[in-house]
Amino acid sequence: MKKLRVGLIGLGGRGLGLCKSTVFTDFEGVELVAICDNYQPWLDRAVECLATEKDLHPKTFTDHHDVLNKDLIDAVLIVTSWETHIPIAIEALELGIPVGMEICGCYDLQQVWDLVHTWERTKTPFMFLENCCYGQNELMLLNMVRQGVFGEVSHCDGCYAHDLRREICKGVLTHHYRWGNYVNRNCENYPTHELGPIAKMLNINHGNRFLTLTSTSSKSVGMHEYIKQKHPDHEVLMNAKFNQGDVVITTIKCAGGETITLKLDTTLPRFYSRGLEVHGTKAYYNDVCKSFFFEGDEEVEEMWDWQPNWDNREKYREQYEHPIWKEYLANGIKGGHGGMDGLVYGAFYDCVMNGYDMPINVYDAAAWMAVTNLSEQSIALGGAPMVFPDFTSGAWK
Ligand SMILES: NC(=O)c1ccc[n+]([C@@H]2O[C@H](COP(=O)([O-])OP(=O)(O)OC[C@H]3O[C@@H](n4cnc5c(N)ncnc54)[C@H](O)[C@@H]3O)[C@@H](O)[C@H]2O)c1
Repeated sequence: MKKLRVGLIGLGGRGLGLCKSTVFTDFEGVELVAICDNYQPWLDRAVECLATEKDLHPKTFTDHHDVLNKDLIDAVLIVTSWETHIPIAIEALELGIPVGMEICGCYDLQQVWDLVHTWERTKTPFMFLENCCYGQNELMLLNMVRQGVFGEVSHCDGCYAHDLRREICKGVLTHHYRWGNYVNRNCENYPTHELGPIAKMLNINHGNRFLTLTSTSSKSVGMHEYIKQKHPDHEVLMNAKFNQGDVVITTIKCAGGETITLKLDTTLPRFYSRGLEVHGTKAYYNDVCKSFFFEGDEEVEEMWDWQPNWDNREKYREQYEHPIWKEYLANGIKGGHGGMDGLVYGAFYDCVMNGYDMPINVYDAAAWMAVTNLSEQSIALGGAPMVFPDFTSGAWK
């Protein structure tokens, strides 16, 4: 089989993490031929890492236009800062270069429409690389939802709860895009880790769709308090005014009647969680306590205290493990983030090489990314409801 020559644009934290992982070495037929970052120190860092840790020696570039060249690559991975994703993706699609785009929310709905229309016109393969759709627990839950274990799903919760205070400060201390976003915007800026798996469970774009959204933001005090403790002598950090609220709560209403709540919680001390909860007519799942509660769980139903169910997820693992994960565990986990990266990047390579439809396509990306811009508007209007565009133009039905 012809080799798939891959170009990687963006070598910050995520790009370097991919270089260190096995997503460029574990897949037969996949060859990393070009890497690019417009910040020279991160380009040099990646070159060093790939050479010493992986014995890989791709061509290097500082201008992404030079990578988007069909004589050089057969597919591109866009792992840059959020605001650059869509413009680079559109450029690549226009050139007929398949795109794997890392996750983000959108700044502007028109840009998302442009992405959708470019894909519709060019039909160049496009995949949104939401690795959490391939999480072991997320896929197990999807399997259970599809098998009807939850009955009819009525509501789901999810969150991106991740103390990012140190990383946000890095925007000034080293070089990271999150800084500008936290200073200038106030929105659900990272919805897809939890929303992607939920959207798959609720068949969004396949008989269901997001209709409306409301978002409300708390005040913004976490960043300044952190900076006072950690960087009291840093003038830029100390004088920064943050627009981004510490916690943003978003509620989405779906055409099928389901509701979804999302919580962005990134500037206060806390443990990491994607906080997935699935509420159906026959079962409930809570990710934080790793627990299922089933209709007819007589043992606990009468009790206020449901400790017998606490931490019972693994009891159901064998029965409901998703086939993708059964095979993955049998054949050996690849990539980072507990194996999710190997699955999502592997799926992208597989689809490009074999001409399959992408499992997370441009319409998924559009609906999920739209949350960020809609939430920004909703917050600015005091929690006003916002209407989702139908990026499928009716095809969701
Ligand atoms: N799926 C995951 O689990 C996961 C985890 C972390 C980050 N991410 C995503 O990966 C992306 C990058 O995140 P990060 O934390 O590495 O950010 P980062 O700021 O550390 O890295 C972004 C890099 O892109 C480079 N860049 C920006 N514009 C460019 C351009 N036009 N040409 C070339 N290089 C350019 C910057 O110089 C920077 O080095 C984001 O979209 C983020 O959401 C995903």
